[in-house]
Amino acid sequence: MAWITILPQHVQKNSSPPFLPIPPLPLPPPMIPTPRLLIRPFQPEDAPAAFEYLSNPTIYRFEPGAPLTLEETTRLITERAKHTDFWAVLHRATDKLVGHLYFSPTEPKEFLTWELGYIFNPAYHNQGYATESATALLRYGFEHFGIHRVVAHCNPENIASWRVLEKIGMTREGHLRQNIFFHRDANCNPLWNDSYAYAILKKDLFPQE
Ligand SMILES: CC(C)(COP(=O)(O)OP(=O)(O)OC[C@H]1O[C@@H](n2cnc3c(N)ncnc32)[C@H](O)[C@@H]1OP(=O)(O)O)[C@@H](O)C(=O)NCCC(=O)NCCS
Repeated sequence: MAWITILPQHVQKNSSPPFLPIPPLPLPPPMIPTPRLLIRPFQPEDAPAAFEYLSNPTIYRFEPGAPLTLEETTRLITERAKHTDFWAVLHRATDKLVGHLYFSPTEPKEFLTWELGYIFNPAYHNQGYATESATALLRYGFEHFGIHRVVAHCNPENIASWRVLEKIGMTREGHLRQNIFFHRDANCNPLWNDSYAYAILKKDLFPQE
């Protein structure tokens, strides 16, 4: 099996100070099944199904961005298919793309901290799909990617999002006041949002290790 090794930049450049090497990511990336879902890397062919929700203005209420055209979605999904920062979530019985997860290391990489995010097609909300898929990817990441801590942020008004974070076992560690904005008003002023900061440690999920 081939492996990608992610080393801190200073280790790559001059091999000191002696940080522990960061565990490698497996290649090819895995397909992760759950009872109802399959989590896998994006493929360019996912674009039409992704367009169904990336063209929907409601998903951007608490997210950066604006509704995409089919052409923009095709470009985006083709790009996302080249790496594993974003994971497609398919309904196994119908092979239908129902949403996606974001799961990627934060900087500096030697802190072994990853960030989790998600967007699901509103046609499939409130069926437990975000919870089921995020639970599986989180466990897989802790077991196989050498992760120490996973963080996530969401708007306090985005109840569905922080419900998911709590259902998957993450702890609310803070309430950040007006720390971020994704959209601007008609005069181009930032529309500041508060954020809840959530996190989970590997030892929270695997206390015996
Ligand atoms: C956040 C999101 C991914 C959740 O996906 P989902 O598949 O519907 O999530 P789940 O079904 O696993 O869980 C949703 C939970 O929120 C609850 N919920 C949803 N809307 C709610 C509301 N307005 N008030 C109270 N609870 C609500 C559901 O009842 C469910 O909790 P429960 O299982 O305890 O009943 C989805 O709403 C989404 O894609 N939103 C748009 C993009 C977005 O905001 N992403 C997150 C940015 S931080």
